[in-house]
Amino acid sequence: MANQIGTASIHIKDLFKAALLAREKSHSPYSGIKVGSAILTKSGQTFSGCNVENSSFGATVCAERVAIQKAVSELGAMEIVEIMVVTDANPPWSPCGLCRQVMVEFGTEIKVYCANVQGFFEEYPLTELLPHAFTPSNLKK
Ligand code: THU
Repeated sequence: MANQIGTASIHIKDLFKAALLAREKSHSPYSGIKVGSAILTKSGQTFSGCNVENSSFGATVCAERVAIQKAVSELGAMEIVEIMVVTDANPPWSPCGLCRQVMVEFGTEIKVYCANVQGFFEEYPLTELLPHAFTPSNLKK
């Protein structure tokens, strides 16, 4: 059952707004699909990103990973608690597998909000989107 951003909590609305704003910057001349994302860190900071496509298609970076990379490059060590992704798709898109793997590097208990520009959104725990994940703890000796 989809939720409506209009009735969501203030901080979910703020994440949505940040992702929508970033989406406007999308560099997507090849797919024509604009994606925006915003993450909330454990320290309460928000970072946003858009998809950045490339004429060498494999060099394209998804909006979620741009937001995460911006956060790491500003903060260094950080933990993600929530992540929003916004497209104009109905039903809203959920993050690609590569992005799910990058997310779990920075938080095993992340809530993922998949929204569209009409304001509908679904909420999933990352553990549901990426069960039995390979995480940094696997590399601990
Ligand atoms: N895309 C994202 O930004 N995030 C996702 O989770 C799925 C896909 C972008 C990549 C590409 O620019 C376009 O959407 C079509 O795949």
